[in-house]
Amino acid sequence: MSAPRFDRATGPLRGDYVPPPDKSISHRAALFAAMADEPVTVRNYLASLDTRSTLDALLKLGAAVEDDGPGGILIRGVGLHAPLEATGGLLDVGNSGTLMRLLPGWLAGQPGGSWTIDGDESIRRRPVDRIAEPLAAMGAEVAAREGRFPPFTVRGGKLTGITYEMPVPSAQVKSCVLIAGMFAEGSTTVVEASQSRDHTERLLRRARVPFERDGRRSTVAQVDELELEEIVVPADASSAAFIVAAATLVPGSRVVVNDVGLNWTRTGFFRIAERMGAVILGDLEEPGTDTDAEPVGELDVASSKLEGTVVEPEEVPLAIDELTLVALLGAFADGETVVRGAEELRFKESNRIAAVVEGLRGLGAEIEETDDGFVVRGDGSPLRGGTIDSRGDHRLAMLGAVAGLASKEGVEVLDMKAAEVSYPGFELDLAALLG
Ligand code: S3P
Repeated sequence: MSAPRFDRATGPLRGDYVPPPDKSISHRAALFAAMADEPVTVRNYLASLDTRSTLDALLKLGAAVEDDGPGGILIRGVGLHAPLEATGGLLDVGNSGTLMRLLPGWLAGQPGGSWTIDGDESIRRRPVDRIAEPLAAMGAEVAAREGRFPPFTVRGGKLTGITYEMPVPSAQVKSCVLIAGMFAEGSTTVVEASQSRDHTERLLRRARVPFERDGRRSTVAQVDELELEEIVVPADASSAAFIVAAATLVPGSRVVVNDVGLNWTRTGFFRIAERMGAVILGDLEEPGTDTDAEPVGELDVASSKLEGTVVEPEEVPLAIDELTLVALLGAFADGETVVRGAEELRFKESNRIAAVVEGLRGLGAEIEETDDGFVVRGDGSPLRGGTIDSRGDHRLAMLGAVAGLASKEGVEVLDMKAAEVSYPGFELDLAALLG
């Protein structure tokens, strides 16, 4: 099959649009439902490769998953204590880093249980020492290949609460430790240097788990059961970001994004883009909001001229999956765009610093890699275009498509199929807006 091409001849993006369900919240909703005693309905669960891997793993651990109307699933969980007859199995996380790092939080709290976790080629390059360390300190055992990579085995234990100062900003690590904290004697505190997405914390509260936040410290206490009502997954702000970027860059565009999650720990990209001159009207949640709800709303986006900006380290976790899009906006903006404190991008589905720098340079951008991010220089005119390889990374595939729509000569995307990991309908949604 030939690689798809995206070019400006297709014209502006116009119309109303609902992004796919949130990937981060879908993973967490399914996992929490599986740990509950009573069945839980999850509405608007994301149907993608990553979130399918989560359901498959939960089935292996003894949960049941049934259809519950359009977009809904009913999960019959096993309670906090997974049946030990399910022990010894191999759990395949596919391409999902979130599943790989959250699930061990649950497994660690099952004394006598032992599970091996593995995934695809990209997962095997992603570090797990970041969860192995705190889980071992709590009383579980995690044995990983070369001490750091999948496949790895989690042996559950009788856990004790710890205070864990996170050496890297990561919502996945924070979530893993907080989940393990539900099984640990005493209380468990995670301290983060800068705030990362807080979906796990919001769900803990919704599940009536004793949970407190004090600035950057989150504390959870041991519980016997989760009490969860129906979970409704909002549309994904990270998936929406690709369409928002396209509507910003392609002249004459106007797109209204509906039902999108506006949790402030996920909307860093929209704030950065606005600072660059993007026109994005909507009720973004107030930074610092500490609640159990997941706010949803509308974003009204129109194309506009952009200027360079500087993204500081504290902003990085709030826009972690969209930083490659900041690079793309920077390539079309007037002046210099700098992203600092983003070394974590090297450990994503691909080394996203190297991939975005090489990828955008190949399309004509003036962009350089730094130790902890990149610098892009633009003069306000569109990129030339060319060919970009997604390297099997879903977010780079979609970035290539957006670059193409706004470029002078169009962009051919190699391995566009990678987008299915988080956003299977991406090309169809684009086509509808390009109408
Ligand atoms: C995620 C956290 C982030 C993000 C990933 C999803 C999550 O990873 O990049 O796509 O759902 O918790 P890190 O925790 O490694 O920063």
